Amino acid sequence: MSNFEAKKEITSKINYNSKHSFKVVRTRKEKSQTKSCITFRSCADIEDEELSYCVPFNSSISAKAYELANNSNGVDNTEVSLKDVSAGLPDFIEEWNRNKFRKVGYGLTGLTLASSLNTFMIFEEHTILFTAGLGFYWVVGLRDMKQKSQTIRRNFPVLGNARYLLEMIRPEIRQYFVEADNEKGVPYDRNNRAIAYQRSKGITATMAFGSRRDADAIGYEWINHSLYPSTLVAQDQRVLVGGNNPECTQPYSSSLLNISAMSFGALSGRAILALSAGAKLGGFSHNTGEGGISEYHKEGKADIVWNIGTAYFGCGKFSEGGVRVFDPEMFVENVKHAKMVEIKLSQGAKPAHGGMLPKEKISPDIAKARNLDYPCQEDCHSPSKHNAFSNPFELCEFIQKLRTLSNGKPIGMKLCIGQPEEFCDLVKAFVETGIHPDFITVDGGEGGTGAAPPEFSNSVGTPLAEGLSFVHAVLVGVGLRDPQDKSRSKITLIASGKVLTGMSMFRTFALGADVCNAARSFLFSLGCIQALKCATNTCPTGITTQDPALSWGLDPSYKQVRVANFQRETVNACVELMEATSIESWAKIQPRHVTRRVGLGVSKHYVEIWDHLQVEKGDLLQLKGPESLLKIWKSSYDISSLASKITAKALR
Ligand SMILES: Cc1cc2nc3c(=O)[nH]c(=O)nc-3n(C[C@H](O)[C@H](O)[C@H](O)COP(=O)(O)O)c2cc1C
Repeated sequence: MSNFEAKKEITSKINYNSKHSFKVVRTRKEKSQTKSCITFRSCADIEDEELSYCVPFNSSISAKAYELANNSNGVDNTEVSLKDVSAGLPDFIEEWNRNKFRKVGYGLTGLTLASSLNTFMIFEEHTILFTAGLGFYWVVGLRDMKQKSQTIRRNFPVLGNARYLLEMIRPEIRQYFVEADNEKGVPYDRNNRAIAYQRSKGITATMAFGSRRDADAIGYEWINHSLYPSTLVAQDQRVLVGGNNPECTQPYSSSLLNISAMSFGALSGRAILALSAGAKLGGFSHNTGEGGISEYHKEGKADIVWNIGTAYFGCGKFSEGGVRVFDPEMFVENVKHAKMVEIKLSQGAKPAHGGMLPKEKISPDIAKARNLDYPCQEDCHSPSKHNAFSNPFELCEFIQKLRTLSNGKPIGMKLCIGQPEEFCDLVKAFVETGIHPDFITVDGGEGGTGAAPPEFSNSVGTPLAEGLSFVHAVLVGVGLRDPQDKSRSKITLIASGKVLTGMSMFRTFALGADVCNAARSFLFSLGCIQALKCATNTCPTGITTQDPALSWGLDPSYKQVRVANFQRETVNACVELMEATSIESWAKIQPRHVTRRVGLGVSKHYVEIWDHLQVEKGDLLQLKGPESLLKIWKSSYDISSLASKITAKALR
């Protein structure tokens, strides 16, 4: 048998299902000769984590492992399949089984009986404790063997529970003891969380002894400051949404940083109240999320941006076919509470996917906000697409309808960029009909959600930098945005995707945005510890739960101040960066203000990285501009043929 075959056999005999692919890189016989160790390198992991699996000497596969350890020259790149070893069981559990459980149980029972007969009077407390422990052992073990859902517990009674216990506390152990300060992908690293916590407490975050970031690393970004910094007043930095559209008669003066959509349902009522009251205190807006406008939003009195999703909560009723459709009367009734309306086409964490709120989580308050019957007999679903429109022209028509019904309030839409040609189709319809939204919110694929399939969160949707710069470029190309002075743009660009610091705001502005929205950073200001339990109704900080026992701990009157502090300090930090670049307004932040290291000794301005940002105002209308952008623009629909294919009343 060759080394390769031996290794394959050994790894396949280790009783795991295939999950990740590993390479055997090293084999080693332990000095004590009680174990043979094989080291695997994960092929899936970018960080090339090495994992060791030690085969017990007396196990059935030890002979081959031993042979391998003796014969191998130590290095091999053979690829084998093996489930992530860290998710396996410790050796002491593997050697345990039902017979051993019984034998140990009988032994302990005998000991307890003997000890109670001999020493009952003298060691009463110990004996009672021992007997209770033994009872616990039997009850847990017998229950483990009887249940059928978890094989590990059935096969390894009592001890098998250790696996579930360890799995349960793994995130906490990792977060408090293992996680590095700047570890990526968690999704917010400890450094950033610490900044959010400090700023929420009103402490200006300062750093001693210089940056901890690796300035030579690929992806490192910096701002190109000026020798002649300017002086600005943070409160003056506001953006007038709808201000350049005569049809928008009630434009909204927006702060540079606002609370992104998170619905009542995903968040507890007390969390909504704290966010809303905090936004009121700090003079910024609070997006309702698609769950509608609740009593908590009204009580907090913030400027409300009403997010209208595919289920039309608060503005929809069931049609005869049992489908929820847009209802103009309900819209008029509720829009009076809102400053702006945002039609949600998609969100970065789960674009083109609907949502679901289990019926158990639907409280009377949630049912009221969503206009559902209470008690709910069914889970509450949001479909993956709207039924009020099905093509770009009908969307324009819908925008116009909402504008009229709302009496001229800013109407916008939120999306995560997917197929770029589809966005070009939309923009062509804006140009053709003369109807366009007052604002577009671009959400990055890295965005958050209460619950989504991992495939969607991990792999669907364009990240913010690409999506936002592309949207900005297309709108510049048709003259709806002004790249030199963004305050003159006809469509305001709002952007969301891991905005947490002044720098993340600044880079978002450099990529084309006028306003930033943040969701999860504001949750940190409420005390979120990133327990990652938003979908389980067991959020320990009372934020993403409908369990009154947990949300009770969140005091809105106290937390609202933290929300306001976080927003103010973050905006101030961004305005300080603007001062450093010597510009007089957010509207003048340019892509060239930020540089990124893209290779060893190679760094580029944003405008060099995303060449579509070189587009000039109106270029696309004359079929000019950067090649990459023009190609997409041309490959989208010819607007006149699109128009002839659909029956759109919106066409003028
Ligand atoms: C708990 C939670 C609930 C959300 N609910 C909504 C929603 O109802 N509608 C929506 O458009 N976006 C929703 N989002 C997405 C956010 O509004 C935002 O676009 C996204 O999280 C990116 O911002 P962030 O990176 O600052 O979190 C939700 C996000 C979170 C974390």
